[in-house]
Amino acid sequence: MNASTDLLGSLLSATGLSYAVKGAHLLRDVSLAIRPGENLGIVGPNGSGKSTLIRLLSGIATPTSGEVRLDGRALSALQRRGIAQRLAVVEQHAETSDSISLRQAVELGRTPWLSALAPWADHDDRIVDQAIADVNLSHLSHRAWHTLSGGERQRAHIARALAQRPQILLLDEPTNHLDIQQQLSILRLVHQLPVTTVIALHDLNQALACDRLAVMDGGQLVALGSPFEVLTPERLHATFGVTGHWLTDPFDGARILRLRST
Ligand SMILES: Nc1ncnc2c1ncn2[C@@H]1O[C@H](COP(=O)(O)OP(=O)(O)O)[C@@H](O)[C@H]1O
Ligand SMILES: [Mg+2]
Repeated sequence: MNASTDLLGSLLSATGLSYAVKGAHLLRDVSLAIRPGENLGIVGPNGSGKSTLIRLLSGIATPTSGEVRLDGRALSALQRRGIAQRLAVVEQHAETSDSISLRQAVELGRTPWLSALAPWADHDDRIVDQAIADVNLSHLSHRAWHTLSGGERQRAHIARALAQRPQILLLDEPTNHLDIQQQLSILRLVHQLPVTTVIALHDLNQALACDRLAVMDGGQLVALGSPFEVLTPERLHATFGVTGHWLTDPFDGARILRLRST
């Protein structure tokens, strides 16, 4: 597939995306096309531009140069509401008011679909109930937000994004600060969702479950392809500063990465 057909068939694409704040270039000339139905992982060391890329792709931040297109239309030409009907994002440090219940927090996801002509209706309740069930939180639906654990809040943020009924979901390190059981269950959930997902991840072995990986380094996209293609020993050394090689798990034949400090 060449670059132009890739762009045409893509749900969300970036061309020549750059972002600078007060002369500091946080992102330089990033071009990529997200394919319908895929699960794209964004990996890279701290400060490499993962969150900046997610913020630009979701329209939270505006690029200094270059363009993001959603469904073939420039993001800059779309209304906030129109964007939110197609795209949902869970930011790295998502916050929610403490004084509401979990269900009320998830109900906020319906906001882009409501108007004077389309007030809250039964189907909005059904969508919210389904989103809460999808993240296995139905039993906590009426709990006050401040009583939820970090993992429960993270799942609730994902439910809020699902209630938006987006075509594409962007998640910035959704497993941060969670215990290993919660990390694995959030990742399994994300991979099972019937939407296109873009997910920034820290743990390279956890990123192996993605269809493709975008590797960020110093604000640039330095590799894009299947995990096995892009996480070569050379790349692990150059971008992550570690020695690494692939192993095959004798238990199930899965490929895993063995990583050591250089
Ligand atoms: N508003 C800002 N002003 C100046 N520098 C910023 C700002 N936001 C992020 N940065 C810097 O931009 C770089 C990329 O940040 P970020 O996208 O958050 O990286 P990552 O998510 O990969 O850790 C980092 O060096 C960070 O310190
Ligand atoms: Mg980040």
